[in-house]
Amino acid sequence: MAPHLVVLVLLAVAASAAAATPRQLFLVSQAPVTLTNHHGQLLTGNYSVNLLWYGRFTPAQRAVVADFLLSLSAPVASASAASASASAPSVAAWWATTSRYHPGAARLTLGRQVLDPSLSLGRRLSETSLAALAARLSPHRGSVAVVITAPDVLVDGFCLSHCGLHASATSSAGAASAPAAAHGSAPGTHGRGRFAYVWVGDSAEQCPGECAWPFHQPAYGPQAPPLVAPNADVGMDGVVINLATLLAGAVTNPYGGGFFQGPAEAPLEAVTACTGVFGAGAYPGYPGQLPVDAASGASYNAVGVAGRRFLLPAMWDPKTSQCSTLV
Ligand SMILES: *[C@@H]1O[C@H](CO)[C@@H](O)[C@H](O)[C@H]1NC(C)=O
Repeated sequence: MAPHLVVLVLLAVAASAAAATPRQLFLVSQAPVTLTNHHGQLLTGNYSVNLLWYGRFTPAQRAVVADFLLSLSAPVASASAASASASAPSVAAWWATTSRYHPGAARLTLGRQVLDPSLSLGRRLSETSLAALAARLSPHRGSVAVVITAPDVLVDGFCLSHCGLHASATSSAGAASAPAAAHGSAPGTHGRGRFAYVWVGDSAEQCPGECAWPFHQPAYGPQAPPLVAPNADVGMDGVVINLATLLAGAVTNPYGGGFFQGPAEAPLEAVTACTGVFGAGAYPGYPGQLPVDAASGASYNAVGVAGRRFLLPAMWDPKTSQCSTLV
């Protein structure tokens, strides 16, 4: 009898999931921020970011996130960025802060995209289902799997305790063909079968005041008028903020032993340590001074491919021990 040739993807969800938390989104940390290097593995080298779109999204909505990911590795001094705006730095310049954590910090490029408009696992997802969806992207050691859920999809803890999360899992797929490399590993290897994944929810219908601030009135805390979203989509512009937050966390603390402050179960990471800060002079309820597009009235602080604009969160800079804003 011929053996069954079945590629099994075994998932072991790591306990060290880190989340982008809504409750702290508009609180500006007053205490000095110091992230400790726990000397565990970081993501280094080239990674493709593969996307699974769970639920209905328009092509325009998918393009917001795809262009953000393309912009991460676009040349910093690109002609399109320079001509589109002299007043905001590039998305790639924002990402470059991750290389201050480690000179070889991961370079992310847009990989493939998978659509699941008919909600194959249903409208309500647990964290285990998120890992199962991530596994559909054939994750491997050179990729980060990203699941984005549509506004009508319910995810355990979404809006209540977090807007998204990053975690890691192990996959046995490909293990047979890959040499049993040791952890810790030579340059260019990423740890056998272990992959990082990210989930972010579009909060437009369920909690924009919690997960799409400052593009929506905050659900609680100090009130200020919401900003106009740079891609004219409160939900997706909020997804970009949370995705940026979680990708920075995934690269600098992928397996729970990288850079963070506080307890490993509830770490403050590269961007979550700077929550609520987008521009200079930020304070609780006020995201900081930001360039405003004269035509649309939208606030932004970074320019990406094709002149697209984004609002990206401050990231902690290990060289200065400050939350570094782009503008
Ligand atoms: C990553 O990709 C870039 C562009 O293709 C290449 O120049 C670079 O050498 C690669 N880095 C690693 C560590 O493979």
